[in-house]
Amino acid sequence: MDSTNQYIQANKDRFLEELIELLKIPSVSADPAYDQEVAACAEVVKDAMEEAGVDHVEICPTAGHPIVYGEKIVDENLPTVLVYGHYDVQPADPLELWDSPPFDPVIKNEKIYARGAADDKGQMFMHVKAVEAMIATSALPCNVKFMIEGEEEVGSENLGIFVAENKEKLKADVILISDTSMLSNENPSITVGLRGLSYVEIELTGPNRDLHSGVYGGAVDNPINALSEMIAKMKDEHGHITVDGFYDDVEEVSKADREAMARAPFDIQSYKEHLGINATKVENGFSEMEGASIRPTLDVNGMWGGYTGEGAKTVLPSKAYAKISMRLVPNQDPEKITELFTEYVQKITPSTMSVKVTPHHGGQPAVTPTDSVAYQAASKAIETTYGKTPIPLRSGGSIPIVALFESELGLKSILLGFGLDSDAIHSPNESYGLFNFFKGIETIPHFFKNFAANS
Ligand code: BES
Ligand code: MN
Ligand code: MN
Repeated sequence: MDSTNQYIQANKDRFLEELIELLKIPSVSADPAYDQEVAACAEVVKDAMEEAGVDHVEICPTAGHPIVYGEKIVDENLPTVLVYGHYDVQPADPLELWDSPPFDPVIKNEKIYARGAADDKGQMFMHVKAVEAMIATSALPCNVKFMIEGEEEVGSENLGIFVAENKEKLKADVILISDTSMLSNENPSITVGLRGLSYVEIELTGPNRDLHSGVYGGAVDNPINALSEMIAKMKDEHGHITVDGFYDDVEEVSKADREAMARAPFDIQSYKEHLGINATKVENGFSEMEGASIRPTLDVNGMWGGYTGEGAKTVLPSKAYAKISMRLVPNQDPEKITELFTEYVQKITPSTMSVKVTPHHGGQPAVTPTDSVAYQAASKAIETTYGKTPIPLRSGGSIPIVALFESELGLKSILLGFGLDSDAIHSPNESYGLFNFFKGIETIPHFFKNFAANS
């Protein structure tokens, strides 16, 4: 065992204790009620970087939550790895569905349970610890920069501005991110694609006030009924999205790539069992794995209106609302899709209603090549620590800043994620495997070594 790995093995308990402290901070970026906790979390990340031996660690304020930046320059002539991650987390509600409080981390079944355990505190922290181990054992083979943000879960808008304004400071050769998942611990994979996102809200208005559903029902149209019909129209019986022009720019993935994907050891039975579903629902002609990665989607994320309180109130509501996400694939453009969606909604809105469509944050899809030095460095690193060559797979999730890193900094990202889909990110009882946490810390130094040696 090399000295870096020895250091890691000798300090495992402390690493875990430190992660527990980080997970105790409710750094929920979406809710202003947690602004102080988000700021406190940035301080803890800064302290951890300083203790790891990273230089010039600073908290960079933005119009929203701050970015923690730090760097360790070994030699200007050596390559530079820019590590990106996020310390903010999703809201924890519904709280009653958690088996233990979301910000009171518990270790059970070899996993650590807490909001942010896998997304992304546990994964981001692996890099801080891996760099600590490399510095402590004089084994950091190249330069490293850290950029850890506090607004990933709300769209990274201020990070986009920070990146555009700090191109010189962020100069690097590759971006390294652990914020995705693997197929399984037995079958490691590397993410080579992320979907884009268009997120919109619909407000449908019927009568100018809530009405008595007996006095007016049968003569006045109901916005919730109307919105349901509109949503039902958005996909046909083949699972195709009916928004005009929606598929115009969709990249057709090659037969070879689809065949490679079909060979990945994906266990549909355990997938269904894990989710408590009897059957899956996929666009005609595609597999579950394809539906959740290389095909675009349209999903209602939430829908409300009328009376939802206790008991029954007879009311014909004035308004109905829905929040809809569309996951996009190369080469769909989120702005264009939002426009097409808005036009389509206007077209299918019945004359009984008026409609307003409001776009929320979106993001571009991204793909990363497998023939780069950086990808090969990551693949070899995983081979070393897992004893298996990782499978390149596209993911269904989105990290909008990845496309921006490419357009603004001209840099590709390596998506070296160690999570599992069963980590329940964004859900109650989010967890991160201890195996995954420590395996990540062990694997990262191998990436640095391989990358430095070959670039
Ligand atoms: N880490 C996730 C993205 C992810 C998860 C990618 C699993 C691949 C596999 C990230 O924190 C996230 O949740 N992103 C948001 C997008 C954002 C604009 C709110 C998402 O995908 O919903
Ligand atoms: Mn994340
Ligand atoms: Mn997330």
